[in-house]
Amino acid sequence: MEGFITDWLNLAIRWFHVIAAIAWIGESFYFVALDNSLKPPQDPNQKKRGVFGELWHVHGGGFYNMQKYTVAPPEMPDDLHWSKWPSYTTWLSGFGLFTVLYLFSPSTYLIDKNVLDMGPVVAVASAIGFLAAGWIVYDSLCRMLGTKDRVLGICVGVYVLIAAWLACHIFAGRAAYLIMGAMLATIMSANVFFVIIPGQRKMVDAMLKGDTPNPIYGKRGKQRSVHNTYFTLPVVFAMLSNHYAMTYTHPYNWAVLLIIMLAGALIRQFFVMRHRGQVLWYLPLVGIVLMFAALFWTMPKPVAQQPQAANAPVVRVADIAAILQQRCVACHSAHPTMMGSAPAGVLLDTPDEISQNAQRIYQQAVTLKAMPLGNVTQMTDGERMKIAAWFQGGAAK
Ligand code: HEC
Repeated sequence: MEGFITDWLNLAIRWFHVIAAIAWIGESFYFVALDNSLKPPQDPNQKKRGVFGELWHVHGGGFYNMQKYTVAPPEMPDDLHWSKWPSYTTWLSGFGLFTVLYLFSPSTYLIDKNVLDMGPVVAVASAIGFLAAGWIVYDSLCRMLGTKDRVLGICVGVYVLIAAWLACHIFAGRAAYLIMGAMLATIMSANVFFVIIPGQRKMVDAMLKGDTPNPIYGKRGKQRSVHNTYFTLPVVFAMLSNHYAMTYTHPYNWAVLLIIMLAGALIRQFFVMRHRGQVLWYLPLVGIVLMFAALFWTMPKPVAQQPQAANAPVVRVADIAAILQQRCVACHSAHPTMMGSAPAGVLLDTPDEISQNAQRIYQQAVTLKAMPLGNVTQMTDGERMKIAAWFQGGAAK
């Protein structure tokens, strides 16, 4: 019953999280595109009013004229819309989901003793510390380097590289990828919360007092929002990566993650430039080449054929059922004890169910060694070889 409630909680928070993220990223993509598509206003009166650029847009059966002011409009509109809640709710729901799934079950999800042998308390503290440190280091870099955009960009890139390496040497691969995504997403939301919104508030306050707002707040906000744009696609991959064991089980999983993240950032850059009127095809092409590089690099090596003595009995499903009972059924069962319900709908209780899933069992437990998750149930290599012999011998019933 408890697992059932956790599953529903998981469903509700995840649904909310995805909706909030769509609202946030949708709005953010729109404003990046808008900002890059602005043309100087045609009407000289608009220029006099301080309009820096405008864009005409037809959408949903109506015409829209968006205008951006160099610093701020001459008088403050009564009804000013702020974009902040989609970002905050994305972070809050994301952190909620991370807590329910990962922080509540560190031994299952966060820890892989082959990566780093740590206790559950240390694992939970490291995960939270990783997110907090992620923001503190990034924010310090931005403050130190100020308006040196290019140098800062390179430093942030190197920092992401170091963080990915660290995450993959502390946490189970699956968790490391998610934590990298969560770290970048935390930076994105914190940029909105600590820099962009307070800066805008200072600008509005100055205007209400009749002063001209200091443009530095606008510049700082813009710099952070540019970083957020390039983080978006890498973060979305990291959030989905849990389903792709071939990436996070690779011996150099941190490098695979970086290759895919770089592909995402380059593809984003293509769209940013296209809104400015420059179509740079080499950007998505390099992105695709990187994805192929990751594909070839993660291609599983063929598992050596298990030597079978000529008169050795064929390995049958009954021979491996006992192994799966011990190592898998705590999760993959109609009545699991370690999960609310069987993950990915894979049931391994009966010989029939095992036979039906032969290919997937071989893939997850032998080729990728992604299962058992974090090897919590301590499956041995000998047991994996037995499954290999069963599958290679034709997965006999
Ligand atoms: C601690 C719980 C746990 C244990 C033990 C476990 N699994 Fe899993 N398994 C999971 C989770 C969680 C997923 C879902 C991963 C995802 O979302 O892609 C999963 C997914 C799978 C999948 C589906 C992957 C796919 O997308 O095709 C297979 C197959 C699988 N496990 C096989 C096994 C086998 C075989 C064992 C035992 C050797 C095992 N699992 C042990 C938790 C577990």
